Amino acid sequence: MRNPNPSDKFTFGLWTVGWQARDPFGDATRAALDPVRTVSELADRGAYGVTFHDDDLIPFGSSVSERTAHIARFKKALESTGMKVPMATTNLFSHPVFKDGAFTSNNRDIRRYAIRKVMTNIELAVELGAKTYVCWGGREGAETDIGKDPVVALERMREAFNVLGQYVIDKGYDIKFALEPKPNEPRGDIFLPTIGHALAFINSLEHPELVGLNPEVGHEQMAGLNFVHGIGQALYHKKLFHIDLNGQHGPKYDQDLVFGHGDLKSAFFLVDLLERYKYDGPKHFDYKPMRTESDEGVWASASANMRTYLILQERATAFRNDPRTKAALEKSSVTELLVPTVAAGESWREIQGESFDVEAAGQRGYHYEELDQLALEYLIGAF
Ligand code: GCO
Ligand code: MN
Ligand code: MN
Repeated sequence: MRNPNPSDKFTFGLWTVGWQARDPFGDATRAALDPVRTVSELADRGAYGVTFHDDDLIPFGSSVSERTAHIARFKKALESTGMKVPMATTNLFSHPVFKDGAFTSNNRDIRRYAIRKVMTNIELAVELGAKTYVCWGGREGAETDIGKDPVVALERMREAFNVLGQYVIDKGYDIKFALEPKPNEPRGDIFLPTIGHALAFINSLEHPELVGLNPEVGHEQMAGLNFVHGIGQALYHKKLFHIDLNGQHGPKYDQDLVFGHGDLKSAFFLVDLLERYKYDGPKHFDYKPMRTESDEGVWASASANMRTYLILQERATAFRNDPRTKAALEKSSVTELLVPTVAAGESWREIQGESFDVEAAGQRGYHYEELDQLALEYLIGAF
């Protein structure tokens, strides 16, 4: 396997390697990381860029002069390493003011404050060259269904994205929004819980062209859904603006494991899909180094994400190029799915008049077992 390099477009959130491993049961096990160090450590390992929440870079409550100083040091680190900032996002979940949500808080003044906080950070994102602005609504939800009207809440959510869309249009900013679905955690239930919910919501906006998705592997898997299918639908609707890669073992708390360290087979088919459909956005790792790790383990885990992606990419390409795969795909009729059901010039009339041996067709076998095993053997390096 070759080493990762910036052309792979691997990116990391400052909050990922920078996670101090505080959890609901225990204190931090690692010291805070200076964003300047993060930039250089990741650059040394072949990453393309970093992403951040406003508060990761500029601690909440910083004065104007402190803010300027934080930004200046960060910019210097970017310049000296060549690292990029293709995406930024807002922390609308840590401060107690957001405990009942941001865009969907029952309190109007909090909703307006949240929109202001986003606008302030969009300015910085644009200044740093970001083209994508991620919106993850971790606190947009409820623990009890009597506490928040879900129909009204969606209307408030819609207002927020309409006003933010108008903001970037009026300012002439070249940036698009990417919604990040998640079913739960930290709220008991979060609005726009899956890719499908978010896609439907986007169509209700005044400027749907400005809004796409940032799906995360673990989030769909927490909902028991097939991530590869979710990404397929996002690609189909041209809404895959960004992606959060990580690992998860099925429906349980958000594990944020290293990419591939959860459902490896799904990760293999995901890389295969992204590569075949030429996804060319950043491959963003949104994971948490295990709480057991010291500094060394943090950087080992950062490299592990990129290595895993590249290995899977190599394996998937070899799998696709093997004549045995091509023959097996043919045998399973996978290629026949490319043939439109209704030919040019045909209508329901030709379909209605057709004769068909339904019993014979019912006896067909699709040979998926052979195909699946072939894929698995590539994945585990048997070829
Ligand atoms: C999570 C989310 C976050 C977001 C991030 C960007 O489950 O904690 O995945 O990590 O991706 O806040 O908005
Ligand atoms: Mn997550
Ligand atoms: Mn995420």
